[in-house]
Amino acid sequence: MSQAPAPTTVPQHVAIIMDGNGRWAKQRGLPRLEGHRRGVETVRTTTFAARDLGVKVLTLYAFSVENWKRPQDEVGGLMSLLEFYLKKELKTFIRDRVRLRTIGRTEELPASVQKLLRDTIEATKEFHDYTLVLALNYGSRTEVVDAARAYAAAVAAGQEKLNDSSWDTFSRYLYTADLPEPDLVIRTSGESRVSNFLLLQAAYAEFFFTPVLWPDFTKADLAAAIADYAKRERRFGLTSEQLKPAPASASQ
Ligand code: FPP
Repeated sequence: MSQAPAPTTVPQHVAIIMDGNGRWAKQRGLPRLEGHRRGVETVRTTTFAARDLGVKVLTLYAFSVENWKRPQDEVGGLMSLLEFYLKKELKTFIRDRVRLRTIGRTEELPASVQKLLRDTIEATKEFHDYTLVLALNYGSRTEVVDAARAYAAAVAAGQEKLNDSSWDTFSRYLYTADLPEPDLVIRTSGESRVSNFLLLQAAYAEFFFTPVLWPDFTKADLAAAIADYAKRERRFGLTSEQLKPAPASASQ
């Protein structure tokens, strides 16, 4: 992005690393999957909380490329939860005009999940006021590899000129090509890492880390993150002085 966008107090795009489901379950002597099940409830409440608070795009890190390495029953359980969630939410998305999008290598997800995603994306594609982006089988490094491959193919096909390479051109090959960059990235559970999430897109994002475990994350927690964001000065590499509006001239 070459120019600083106009500042607003409400972040237009909030991205969340939903962390702490396992610990939430462990604290209660429950299986990890129970934590994920409660995490899905928080996905629901947060989707609508964000919209109520004026957010336009909400991206949730639901399954990373690294998550396949978890125990098989946990991976299977997460896929089943995703299916259950998509089946249940379709009606709500249509009723409440939520557009669903995904980022990530969704073509590697189980066929049943892929079909549900395709159907939900198709059924909600005309809604433009509010978008829920699920990061599924997502990782920034694989995203860059996929984008570089697609860009190289476009250069080879004569659709792009190597000499004209720029961020604006290359970023059109990222999964997020038609989405605004995140303004605010939240991570729950007290961890302060970005874990291969939107590394390029969050270049100028503000970060907010909260100790709250994802299943316990509420609308009030989201509002607190947004209130904290509103106090910050985003400089996009400029100085504070450059961001201030020029004083009106004496003759005006
Ligand atoms: C991190 O908690 C969370 C995940 C790996 C996945 C997030 C998934 C959900 C909220 C449920 C499925 C989502 C949808 C959209 C249906 P963790 O297990 O790493 O927690 P821990 O660090 O406490 O072990």
